[in-house]
Amino acid sequence: MEKILVLDFGGQYNQLIARRVRENHIYAEIKAYNRITSDEIKADNYKGIIFTGGPNSVYDAVSPHFDSAVLELGIPVLGICYGCQLIAYMKNGTVSSAENSSEYGKTLLHVKSNPLFQGVPEKSICWMSHNDYVSKVPEGFTVIAETGKCPCAAMADVQHNIYAVQFHPEVTHTEFGRDILRNFVVDICGCSQDWKMESFIDDRVRKYRTELEGKRVLLALSGGVDSSVAAVLLDKAIGQDLVCVFVDHGLLRKNEGDLVEKTFKNKFGLNLIRVNARKQFLENLAGVREPEAKRKIIGEEFIRVFEKEARKLGKIDILAQGTIYPDVVESGKGESAVIKSHHNVGGLPERMGFERIVEPLRELFKDEVREVGKKLGIPDELVNRQPFPGPGLGIRIIGEVTEERLALLKEADAIFREEVNQAGLETVANQYFAVLTDSRTVGVMGDARTYGYTVALRSVTTDDFMTAEWTRLPYDLLETVSSRIINEVRGISRVVYDITSKPPGTVEWE
Ligand code: XMP
Repeated sequence: MEKILVLDFGGQYNQLIARRVRENHIYAEIKAYNRITSDEIKADNYKGIIFTGGPNSVYDAVSPHFDSAVLELGIPVLGICYGCQLIAYMKNGTVSSAENSSEYGKTLLHVKSNPLFQGVPEKSICWMSHNDYVSKVPEGFTVIAETGKCPCAAMADVQHNIYAVQFHPEVTHTEFGRDILRNFVVDICGCSQDWKMESFIDDRVRKYRTELEGKRVLLALSGGVDSSVAAVLLDKAIGQDLVCVFVDHGLLRKNEGDLVEKTFKNKFGLNLIRVNARKQFLENLAGVREPEAKRKIIGEEFIRVFEKEARKLGKIDILAQGTIYPDVVESGKGESAVIKSHHNVGGLPERMGFERIVEPLRELFKDEVREVGKKLGIPDELVNRQPFPGPGLGIRIIGEVTEERLALLKEADAIFREEVNQAGLETVANQYFAVLTDSRTVGVMGDARTYGYTVALRSVTTDDFMTAEWTRLPYDLLETVSSRIINEVRGISRVVYDITSKPPGTVEWE
């Protein structure tokens, strides 16, 4: 398979660069600069290398460097921002820092005719974010772009296919950024653009059919996008040798457990075991009010139930997980690899003696996982499902989780989600749900005094869930939701809307 290496020097946009490459149907892999060598790059047959940006100055003692042999491999290279300066440094050019040379934000760019800028007008807008700049290009290089403040906004050694840009072509603010990256990966690197989701599915199915022949594989299906897509994909490869265990802790949203069972067991014919464990989860949660304690109880109980169920199945060889690319990307910032296992099954392989773990979606970004899911025929409501925390409604009930309070929240939450969906706002609101608070307030209904719980509605608009804005939902919609909840859910007498952004607030209340 043809692939591009995104060599990560700790820049904040490394995943975005990989996404942009993949939009051209070319597979891109991110590797931290300190976890791959020049020899390994050569052996891996990359068609091109992109050096990412990074927070450092090339002259800092601690700044990330790389073996300059990488520039002699004959593989095309594109350096971005810090990556541009690093190339200049590696090739004995000069990088300078002058007070009036730093640029931040949208900047007018002038380019010269060049393979990298094929189809880019002489003047356009680019996105800059730098202090240092290349003040003298290395031998063999020419300046191919400039801005008002930066005499070398891009440079190239066309003969050796080494290019470098001071600006960020991967961000949307750079008007022709997509074209520039396309010119690099398609025209300069010569990739043939055959990385498609259909071929990904066929590839994987073929691979697992051989690799897992005669093995029994266990997967914890949560109903979330990643585990669902992993399950259907593996089912295509090994059918009944895949056993999916769906632990229904009772803290799912209204009708969700049934939907998961109906879809995967009945429609897809998966070998699925649903464990109805609501009662025991609630028993364990009785009297517990503290959020972290609730999380811990739910997580541990999940493992206990899952293990018990798995033991009943006899010998299982392999554990499958829905890990996706952002969970496994190693960052060049120096911290150790972040490998997030499904929070609910972490620790299981050692405890249960599996031969190994299989992660069919390990190379994919979330939107690619959704695309695979759609191609596999998984219904939209599951493929486009908003994020839902592992501990479920357990952390959306402030205070104690009881059968009655769970029922109130499920109803209120279902009404809110139904109205947002009906208004077609689910693309504006990225996560929206109800929270049952522990405060009760006085109300009147008819002539009678009521004394019920307060429900808070929470809706956030965000790209990455690291920061989030509260969604500006229309007043009329909020009014409909409020009035429906009060009228339809006996026991709730007040509805409020949460207008806290993140930070300082978090998305969830607990
Ligand atoms: P916060 O509340 O941290 O949420 O702003 C960010 C995103 O993470 C989800 N979240 C969780 N997911 N287990 C999970 O699997 C948890 O304990 C948990 N807590 C928060 C949250 O729903 C949001 O999408």
